[in-house]
This record gives sequence, structure tokens and C-alpha cells, in this order.
Amino acid sequence: MKLLLSSALISLSLGSLAQNTVVATDEIALNQTANHAHSEIAIIPEPVTITKQDGHFKLPESILIQTSKPTELKQAIAFLQERLSVPTGYFVSSTAAASNTANIRLVLTERNDAAIGAEGYHLQVTPQQITITANKPAGIFYGVQTLMQLLPKEIESKEEVKDVTWKVPCVNITDYPRLGWRGLMFDVARHFFTKDEVKQYIDAMVRYKYNILHLHLTDDEGWRIEIKGYPKLTEVGAWNVKRVGSFGNFIPTKPEEPRNYGGFYTQEDLKELVAYAKERFVNILPEVDVPGHSLAAVASYPELSCTPDAVNYKVRSGERIMDWSRGVPPLAMVDNTLCPANEKVYEFLDTVVSQVAKIFPFEYMHMGGDEAPHNFWEKTPQILELMKRENLKNMHQVQSYFERRLEKIVAKHGKRFMAWDEVLEGGVSQSTAVMSWRDMKYGVQAAKNKHEVVMSPTQYAYLDYMQADEITEPKVYKGLRLSKTYQFDPVPDGVDPKYIKGGQGNLWTEQVYNIRQAEYQTWPRGFALAESVWSPKEKKNWNNFFARTEQHFERLAIAETKYAPSVYDPIFTVKRTADGKLLVTLDKEVEDLDIYYSFDNSFPDHFYPKYTEPLVVPIDANMLRVITYRGKKPIGRMMNMPIEELNKRAPMKK
Ligand code: ACM
Repeated sequence: MKLLLSSALISLSLGSLAQNTVVATDEIALNQTANHAHSEIAIIPEPVTITKQDGHFKLPESILIQTSKPTELKQAIAFLQERLSVPTGYFVSSTAAASNTANIRLVLTERNDAAIGAEGYHLQVTPQQITITANKPAGIFYGVQTLMQLLPKEIESKEEVKDVTWKVPCVNITDYPRLGWRGLMFDVARHFFTKDEVKQYIDAMVRYKYNILHLHLTDDEGWRIEIKGYPKLTEVGAWNVKRVGSFGNFIPTKPEEPRNYGGFYTQEDLKELVAYAKERFVNILPEVDVPGHSLAAVASYPELSCTPDAVNYKVRSGERIMDWSRGVPPLAMVDNTLCPANEKVYEFLDTVVSQVAKIFPFEYMHMGGDEAPHNFWEKTPQILELMKRENLKNMHQVQSYFERRLEKIVAKHGKRFMAWDEVLEGGVSQSTAVMSWRDMKYGVQAAKNKHEVVMSPTQYAYLDYMQADEITEPKVYKGLRLSKTYQFDPVPDGVDPKYIKGGQGNLWTEQVYNIRQAEYQTWPRGFALAESVWSPKEKKNWNNFFARTEQHFERLAIAETKYAPSVYDPIFTVKRTADGKLLVTLDKEVEDLDIYYSFDNSFPDHFYPKYTEPLVVPIDANMLRVITYRGKKPIGRMMNMPIEELNKRAPMKK
């Protein structure tokens, strides 16, 4: 997502988010425990049914896992061995022989248990034994993830932890997912992430029962897949000039600046990632984003363009190349497209698809299709000839011509064709699977037209968006708070659920320069999305979810996975009083917090004035500082809001 909004629009959208948040919180203000109350059972995503029983199972110092199917269940066994031994320092072994003394039993059903399907499980914990039963290895693996969440949080530690009583509350859990496609998209094109970093990302997502990792592998800023026969894609296309700051507005690069920032995956690297993900029941969906977002490919092979000036193009380093002022599709300042009227493009794509299809066993291949600018095509003689020859009426139909040919290539190599929702505009074949991003309504429309749909709308699922006010977040196009993400329902009313494969969150990385920030953007919104795609819709409850979220913050901290504390930051809304004064409202996403503030430039603590009603900004003030507390404990970040910024957000009427 690259829609660039002015700061006035950002503040407007945050203003409307604030209102949404208030409504959401009112709707679910029933049946609440205090957010910070620690419950012994705090599972994310919330299981279908949990029955708590008396007592605990205490891990012995020598833990025996028993299963009669050790080959089928090797992933679950390996996971348990690693996770149960490292933090406890205990000895963990497994046996295939029937055993009366086994502590953990993993049971694959002999007869299919229809209630739990291919990914569900039963987990029973008694004082004597833990039993996980499932129809398939995936279900056992998810049962194991739930078991980890029933253990003390220190089970997430990467080293031994002393003085913990390693016990599990006795429970009966039956659990299975609401939807089959539970994805996260990780953009490794805008910024490159190493193979180990991608594994780290996978490790975090499997805790929350995600089963699809969509890798966005090509874009204007980098081509990340080795393709045999096209070596320049990775010699040239994988590298740009390192810049930091506000992406999109970097100073244009100079010829003498080294192009040594980036990287790519060899085909062997990608196969290793596929295997790593598969061992954790995650499929990798590869995305090659064409015909737009293709500057890295064009800079490597200018003959793929129909624009003669492409010989001078360079891989983008974050400088401005698009004019977004009139929306999508943007006006391109350089032609970052593969030319639909150029036969070399189809030869190229045939080679790329054939190799990508062999690396990734997943049945779908995502071929992008988003935000392709049409303004260069409008002036390209070859395109105009193509339109005449093929009777194409407009540029959407030109893109559709391209997409239909591409679908045939993808099908020839044994894959199902998936693309972003723009491809619907010129008409595509019904077998195209649509990933809906611009708005839920495109996914709804696609499902009505009997396309398979994955919902990943900006309104709920864009993990690159800011989680709180831009004064505390790295600035991106728009805001999306946790409570709003939690409202995501991938199967809206009025849609035939059989067309909705599932949902996913998308982490674009223009502004994400390192893996710690990738984690920060993903969690806790990744919890909310996981619950939206796994848990029964009727069980969703914000306050209950947030109480569990806080416990998982502690788990992530021990696992050394970064998360955003932005949910504790108040929401600023500003307007003018009748006599022109600034009036600031502070809303909270988390009810049981207090907000303290100052206008005198000093740092507020819980001895300062407490926010109880909208604040009138004093005449000479130049800074509003706020911080949230729970009781006597500071919990939010110090937020420094310049009055100048408030003035911009509520300009004086002329
Ligand atoms: C997208 O965000 N351009 C799919």
C-alpha cells in the first residue's frame, strides 16, 4: 500500500478511528474482567471450547512423550523437545512403544473425528497426563501450540530459567479453525530480510496458528529471487542505495553512490525456507508483482519495457516515482511496468513462473496486478497497436489482456492464479483467485462473481499502518489501531462463505528497515487477525481479548519478539471552540488507564493533572505532553504533541 495522504488527512482518519474505537468499546463493555487481571488460561487465538478442571499437571524433570506415529508426528515431537527442554533444563525423550508412564501422549485418530477437521485437536490435561488428539499432524501441532500457552510464560525463554514451577492447569479443550487461509504477508522486496530473519518471522507466526506466509518477492526496490537465465535480476535488480528517513521522498540517487544495499535468495535458499515453513505447517505463497511494481526487473532488463528511456532506469531507492494525488492507479513518473504489448515479457514470465512453480509447492501463485500505472501505456505505440488488434477499449482491458495471458502461463506450470483486486476491473477469468486489499467491498464483489477470495483489506489488515498517533509511530500513510483490527470479519454478512478462503494481514516494508520493526508492526495486531481467522465469531470480545493480549506481551518479551505498546497511547482528536481555542479530546483504547498531562513542557507523571474532560489549550503553550498510567505504574509512552501540530490538525477558519 503506497497511497500517500497529507498530514491533514492522516489526522482526519485518526479522528474517525477515534470515534470508531469509542463505539467499539461501548459495544463490548459487558462481561468484563479488569484488563490486567492475570488469568492462568490466556490462549490466542481463543479456542472453540475450554473447560477448566481442578488441579494441575506438573512437568517432571524427565519428560516422556509417547506416540505410535513418530514419523508422521516428527515436527510436533521436535518442537516439544526443543521448547520443553531449553527453558526448563529438563530431559525430554520420546517413545513409540505403548507406555503407562508417558507424560504427554500424541494421538492420531484411527477414525476421522469430523468435529475437528484437518487442523483441529482435542487437548486434555489431567494431573497425571497430557493428551493431544487430532486427525492430522497439523492438528497435533496446533494442540502443542496451545499447550505452550498453558505453561508459564517463561516457557518462551531461549535459555534455562530457574525457580519456575512448570505446571499446566487441568483443562479439556476442543479447537479447530474458522477458516482455512490464515495468512501474513511479509514484503521482503522493499527492504530485504535475510533467510534467518524470515525463519524468525515464521517462528512467531506459528505460535498463533497462522498457516500461510505470503512472500512479496519483487517490487520497484528489489527483485529477490534467483532466476536462471536472467542473472541481472539479482546482479542489478536486488540492489539499491541505502537511505533512511521518510521513504518516498528520498533525494534522487547520484551515479557515484554505491548500489550495495539489498540482497536476494538463491533457489536453494527459497527451498530451505519452504521446508522450514512446511515443518511448521505453513505454506509459502510466492508473489511476483507484475505488470506494475516492476522497476527492479525493468532496470535489469530494459527490453521488457516499451519505454525507450528504460535503459536509464535504476532500481528504486525510495525516491519519488509516482504521483498518488489522484488515487489508484497512480500517475507514474517513470514507467515501472512490464509492457503488455511486448512478447519478450511473456517469454520472461514463462521462465520466471516455471522456476518459481518448481521452488514453491503451494498450489497458488500470486502475480500481483496492483497499482499498475497506465499513463505510459496510453502513449506507447505498441500498446495502441495491441488495442486495435485485440479490440481492447481502455487500459483496464489492456491490463486484463496481460492478466489472462499470465493466468495461462501460471496454469501451464500447474498453479492456480491469484492477484490483487484491481485485476477485476478489466475483467478476468472466473478461475482467478482474488486477494482483496483496497476495501472489503472488492472482496465482497469478487465473491458475488464466484471468485475465490482472500480478505486482506486496508481497513483492518494493513500491518504497515501506524498503530497510534504519528507523533509516536514511524510515519506511514495511515493509522490502524489494534481495536479496529480486532473488528475484522473476513466473512461479512451477505457473502456466500464458500468463496471466502480466509484472511490475512499484510506487512509492507517501505518504512520497515529491520526485523525488530517488522515484529513491532506485526504484534499485537497479528493476535487480533489470528483470532479473526481462527476463533468462532461469537466468541470474539475485545476486553477479554485485550486481557489475553497483555499476557502475551509478556510472552513475546521473554521470546525476544518485539511488539508495539501503541495500544496504551491515547487517541488525540482536536477541534476549535466557537471562540477559536484549540480543544483536545483524549480517548483510550484500554479503559482501565489514567492519562496525565502537562502544558508546561515538563514530563507528567501520576502527580500531574489527570485527564477527565476535553482540554482547552492555554494561549502560550507550545507542547502538550501526555502519559498513561495503570494505578501508580507508567504504562504508555511519553507523548509529546506540539501545539503547532494541533494547530495544523484544526486550522483556524479564515
Ligand atoms: C497493495 O497494497 N498495493 C496491494
